[in-house]
Amino acid sequence: MNAVKLFKKNASTTELKSASAIEKSSRVVGVLGAKGGVGATTISINLAAAFALHTHSRVALFDANLQQPDAACLLNRLPRYSLLDLARRSALDGEIIAACAEQIYLDNNKSAGKMFGLYSPPLEANLALQFPSGDLLRLLSLMKKQDGTVVVDLPRTISRELVSMLDLCDSVILVVEPTVTALAAARRWFEIFKDLEFESDQVITVLNRSGGKLKEIEKQLSMDLGGFPLLRVPNAYEVCESASIEGVPALVKYPRQGFSKGITEIFQFCQSVVREV
Ligand SMILES: Nc1ncnc2c1ncn2[C@@H]1O[C@H](COP(=O)(O)OP(=O)(O)OP(=O)(O)O)[C@@H](O)[C@H]1O
Ligand SMILES: [Mg+2]
Repeated sequence: MNAVKLFKKNASTTELKSASAIEKSSRVVGVLGAKGGVGATTISINLAAAFALHTHSRVALFDANLQQPDAACLLNRLPRYSLLDLARRSALDGEIIAACAEQIYLDNNKSAGKMFGLYSPPLEANLALQFPSGDLLRLLSLMKKQDGTVVVDLPRTISRELVSMLDLCDSVILVVEPTVTALAAARRWFEIFKDLEFESDQVITVLNRSGGKLKEIEKQLSMDLGGFPLLRVPNAYEVCESASIEGVPALVKYPRQGFSKGITEIFQFCQSVVREV
C-alpha cells in the first residue's frame, strides 16, 4: 500500500475516530498552496471573510503554518493568544477556544457582528519550537466539533499530520499559480487527493494570479485536473498589497474588484457542495 493511503488508514483508525463519530454541525475548508508563495494565506483570509460576511455561522481562520504564521502578519495583528496557549491547556471546551480567538471585525461598526476569529501559531520562533507534536491535528479536531466554519491555512510539507488534517477537511482548495513549477506541484497533489479518495467536488483548484497573456499553462492545468473543478482569481498586486498594509481582507476593502469576485465564486462553490451550517 502506498504511504499516503497508509497514513490515511492509520489516521482514520486513531486520531480521527472521535472527530468522525461526532454529529456534524461544522465544516472545515482547507486551503493548500501547491507550492510556496502562490497566495494560499491571502485566499484563506479572504475566504474566511466571505464566510463571515455571507453566512450566519461562527467562522474561524486556523493558521496551521507553525514555521511561517503569515495570517496574523497579513492582517496586521499581534494576537493576544496563540494556538500554543490552547495546546498547553489540559482541558479545553468551546468557551475557552472561543475566548482565545483574535477577533477580526469586517466593518467599522463592530456591533454588526461581522467578524471571524483568528487562531495563529505563536509568532516567536522559540515558542513555535515548543509546540507539541501532533497538537495542530488535535486542536483542529476539537474545532471541528464546534458549530460553524473553520478555514484552515494548511502547511505544505507532506507529513502524517498533514494527511490527517486533509482527512478532516470537508473540502480542500488547492491554490496554484500560472507557472511551470506550480503546475508540476499541482500534479503531485492531484495524485495525493486521489490516494485520499477525495470526491471530485471536494477539491477545488484555484488558479491565482490568472489572466496573463501566456495561456499555455492554464490550458495544461485544465487538462490535468482529472475531474476537479477549476476557478480563477485574477492577478491583483495593488489590491492585495494595499489591503495587507492596512490589515483588512481585500474582499472587504475592494468588494467590486475582480479579485473579490473570484473569492466570492470560491465561497459560492463551497456553499453549493456543502450544506449550510
Ligand atoms: N491574486 C493575487 N494577485 C497579486 N498578488 C497576490 C495575489 N494573491 C496573493 N498575492 C500576493 O502574493 C504574496 C504571497 O501571498 P501569500 O503569502 O498569501 O502566499 P502563500 O502561498 O501563503 O505563501 P507561503 O508559501 O509563504 O505560505 C503576497 O504578497 C500577496 O499579497
Ligand atoms: Mg502562507
